Amino acid sequence: MTSNSFLRDDDLDPTDQAAVLDLAAAMKADRTGFRPLAGPRAVAVIFEKSSLRTRASFETGIAELGGHPLIIDAQTTHFGRGETLGDAARVLSRYVAAIVMRTSADTRLSEVAAGATVPVVNALTDGFHPCQILADLLTVRERFGDTKGRTLAFLGDSANNMAHSYLLGGATAGMHVRVAGPAGFVPDADVLAKAAAIAATTGGSVDAGTDPVAAVAGADVVATDTWTSMGQEGDGLDRITPFLPYQVNARLLDGAADGAIVLHCLPAHRGEEITDDVLDGPVSAVWDQAENRLHAQKALLQWLIGP
Ligand code: CP
Ligand code: NVA
Repeated sequence: MTSNSFLRDDDLDPTDQAAVLDLAAAMKADRTGFRPLAGPRAVAVIFEKSSLRTRASFETGIAELGGHPLIIDAQTTHFGRGETLGDAARVLSRYVAAIVMRTSADTRLSEVAAGATVPVVNALTDGFHPCQILADLLTVRERFGDTKGRTLAFLGDSANNMAHSYLLGGATAGMHVRVAGPAGFVPDADVLAKAAAIAATTGGSVDAGTDPVAAVAGADVVATDTWTSMGQEGDGLDRITPFLPYQVNARLLDGAADGAIVLHCLPAHRGEEITDDVLDGPVSAVWDQAENRLHAQKALLQWLIGP
């Protein structure tokens, strides 16, 4: 691996990503059989944004690993009133085996990683959601046997954390990743270039465009996400009208491959980025995807801090 933290999807190289996914599958098959944190050792999980799945899956997962989940709501810390993130990370590192954090700017997570002497895990930033992509890749493996050579189309805000993480994490997994969204909602150029460079080594590919039908054509996996990510509620942009052609609905899915599945990291805005019939129907792998957060993150933690 390229660092002892997991701040972005490309912190796991293809070999390490595959090893984490193998471990996640083993942990799913034997849910209580891995207890590397027994002692227990604590893991801090800090939230500067809302969460259901991430909080529940990390808290449950750390407990299942035999550890103690130390959930910290940032509003009750000193982060906002003067203590630097680096100082806080330095102190927390004296108590815990790892620091997991959900925050806004990626620079905030970098400040934590710079101060920490234990591994730091990105539980969602404005730029990336790499733990989610591990769960999604585990789901793709379960449904198709492998990720290599499969095509994933992401529709919606191609500038958001999920799009960026699909590009990096999907390319690492040897997938063909296409993201499509309205003009003006395009991926960060550096992230796209890095994903292309990774894809060139794994046999995958990446593409960013504006045509939802072309993106979905023949895709094995169709993924979407909210059109308004946390923190974007007041940005003054129209996050409905230009996105309507990108709604994941039955008509759009007609162009996907036979046996295609649909992913959504949740929470879903039913009737906006995805229709009820798709989310609740047979193509939806969303509920397995949500469960797989637990298994993927347990494996990641064992990988980062286990014996
Ligand atoms: N998918 C996801 O991260 O969900 P939460 O925001 O509920 O944690
Ligand atoms: N893009 C979404 C993902 C939520 C899990 C957000 O950042 O709000």
